[in-house]
Amino acid sequence: MEGVTDPAFRDVVMARHDPLRLGGVFTEFVRITEQAASPGVIQRHLGAARFPIPVGLQLMGSDVTLVAASAATAAARGAAVVDLNFGCPAKGALRGCAGSALLDDPPKVAALVSACVDAVEGRVPVTAKVRAGVDDADRVEEIAGAAEDGGASMLTVHCRTRAERYQDSVDWSRIRRAVEAVSIPVCGNGGVRVTEDIRRMRIETGCAFVMVGRAALGDPWIFSGERVTRQVAARFLLDYASNLRGLRSGTPEGAAARMKQLLRYWTAGGLVTDQDRLSWLREPDPARLMARIEAALGDEVEGP
Ligand SMILES: Cc1cc2nc3c(=O)[nH]c(=O)nc-3n(C[C@H](O)[C@H](O)[C@H](O)COP(=O)(O)O)c2cc1C
Repeated sequence: MEGVTDPAFRDVVMARHDPLRLGGVFTEFVRITEQAASPGVIQRHLGAARFPIPVGLQLMGSDVTLVAASAATAAARGAAVVDLNFGCPAKGALRGCAGSALLDDPPKVAALVSACVDAVEGRVPVTAKVRAGVDDADRVEEIAGAAEDGGASMLTVHCRTRAERYQDSVDWSRIRRAVEAVSIPVCGNGGVRVTEDIRRMRIETGCAFVMVGRAALGDPWIFSGERVTRQVAARFLLDYASNLRGLRSGTPEGAAARMKQLLRYWTAGGLVTDQDRLSWLREPDPARLMARIEAALGDEVEGP
């Protein structure tokens, strides 16, 4: 997810998970506009391969040649999967006719997937991530079919339409419709809030995989259902901060800004609550922000 699931964050998550349970992770989208993504940019998004968990690289663009060239670079740089984004509702994506702007043009979806499949020359699977539609979900089968026709190995269906953006209510029957329309595996996405929802989505929709979005930012243990303590949650955040500071561009201010992006969603361990979330987000001093997290860790050292 853009602005959050960078290698610094993913590494902390992967270090705490059984590879089989987590299954895999994706980078945030790499936007392709005027030129293909350079090997350096791709590498920065992929990070170092420290864990036996596949990391897929996501591309978002509409220029078939440039996106395909970027896919080839991603495969050469060790991406486990190349994923194409047809779901981003942001204005920038729409102006560039990428992301969800392409949902109204299934042949273009197929053409982009197909060009990437050719470009990676069988080295890695190419997958697609779509929303259920633009204003309604009437064409979800057609959109799913376009990804399959293009040669996608897997399709992730975010069940909201672009018009629905990130609204609370979701209709998982749209995922089921996509599952029934294609023969490739479908990964269901949208509205998973608690661990039990993962199982329920698979049962209700028949999807092969489940992708968890914002709930994993709130509680990265959602995949296993482990209920962590305040201290364990604080340790996660401090490890994340340490990874952020280790980046070449890492400054205390930059690390604090990224941390706040995560704290907008954080619920694990009860460390941040709906009542005090604003006070965390409004903390202007990076050192005080980190000290507040460290204070929660101190409870652990001193014991109950
Ligand atoms: C801050 C933020 C950034 C996101 N960035 C991406 C992205 O880079 N690529 C992508 O495919 N989806 C992105 N998404 C969408 C999520 O992957 C997911 O499809 C969406 O949040 C619905 O799942 P959820 O209800 O489990 O959150 C983003 C969502 C949020 C809230």
